[in-house]
Amino acid sequence: MPGKGAGATDALSAAIDAFNAAGVETPRLDAEILLSELIGVDRASLIADRDMTLDPAVSRAFSEAVKRRIRREPVAYILGSKGFRHIDLHVDQRVLIPRPETEMLVDLALETGPATVLEVGTGSGAIALAVADEIPGCSVLATDISDGAIEVAAANASRLGLEGQVRFKLGSLPDDPARFDLILANLPYVPDSDSLPPEVGQWEPAGALFGGPDGTEVIADVLGRLNERGIDAPVIGLEIGTGQGTRVEELLASHGWSDTEVRHDLAGIERVAIGRRP
Ligand SMILES: C[S@@+](CC[C@H](N)C(=O)[O-])C[C@H]1O[C@@H](n2cnc3c(N)ncnc32)[C@H](O)[C@@H]1O
Repeated sequence: MPGKGAGATDALSAAIDAFNAAGVETPRLDAEILLSELIGVDRASLIADRDMTLDPAVSRAFSEAVKRRIRREPVAYILGSKGFRHIDLHVDQRVLIPRPETEMLVDLALETGPATVLEVGTGSGAIALAVADEIPGCSVLATDISDGAIEVAAANASRLGLEGQVRFKLGSLPDDPARFDLILANLPYVPDSDSLPPEVGQWEPAGALFGGPDGTEVIADVLGRLNERGIDAPVIGLEIGTGQGTRVEELLASHGWSDTEVRHDLAGIERVAIGRRP
C-alpha cells in the first residue's frame, strides 16, 4: 500500500503487487491509470518521471483507489468517468461502462447520416451523446427502463452541452407511432448462465447485462414491440454477442427487416446486426 508522502515509483510497485495478489488482469496499467489521473498528469509523464513524489493528499486518494480496485471494482467506476469516441462520460454503478466495440454503432450512424435517431437502452448515454456530438443537427431520442441510467445519461448530456440535441425517456420505447432515420440499440445480450469476470458480474448492473437463456430475448422483445407500436426506421443496428449473428438475423427477418448483415469487431467477434426496411 502506498504510504503518506510516498514516491510514485514505490506507490506503483506496491499497488501492482496488491493487484497481482487480487487477480487483477492488468495490474500495471490499472495502477498507472489510477495514479496518473489522481495526480492530474498523463500516464507517459508518470512513467517517465521516476523520482516523482506524491503529495500526501494524492497518496491517501491512491490508497483508497487501490483498496477499491483490490475488491475488483472497475477502474472507470473508481475514477467516475470513461472516454467513448470524443467524449468523456460520467459513469457509476447505475450504468454499464461503455465498451470500445460499441463505437461500431456510432460508425453505422455516421455511414447513415441520420437527422433523427432512436436509441433504445441508453445507459450512460454513450451512443446517443456520441452520435449527437459527431452529427451536428441530428436529433436523438434515447430511452432506458432504468431510472438511474436516465439520470446519469441526462446529467452527461448537460455536462457535454448536448441537452438540446438529445432527449431522454424513461421506459423501453416511445409511446406513440414514430418514424426515425435510424434505430440503434445495445440491449442486454449476455446469456443468463454465463459466468462473468468479477469486474462485470459483481459491479455492473445485471439489468444491463443479461438477455435471457440464449441472450437474445430482450432483443426479440424490443423488435416485437417496435412493430406493435408502429415505431420504424429504414435502418436498425443492434449490438450482439459471440455466436448470436444467425439468431439475430433470423429475428430481424421475422420482424420484417431485410438485407440483414452482421459485422465483426476488431477481435473477430460478431458484434453488430443490421436490418433494413425493404
Ligand atoms: C448493455 S447496456 C447498454 C448501455 C449503453 N447503450 C452502452 O452501449 O454503453 C443496456 C441498457 O439497456 C437497458 N435496458 C434493458 N432492457 C431494456 C428494454 N427492454 N428497453 C429499454 N432499455 C432496456 C438497461 O437498463 C441498460 O442501461
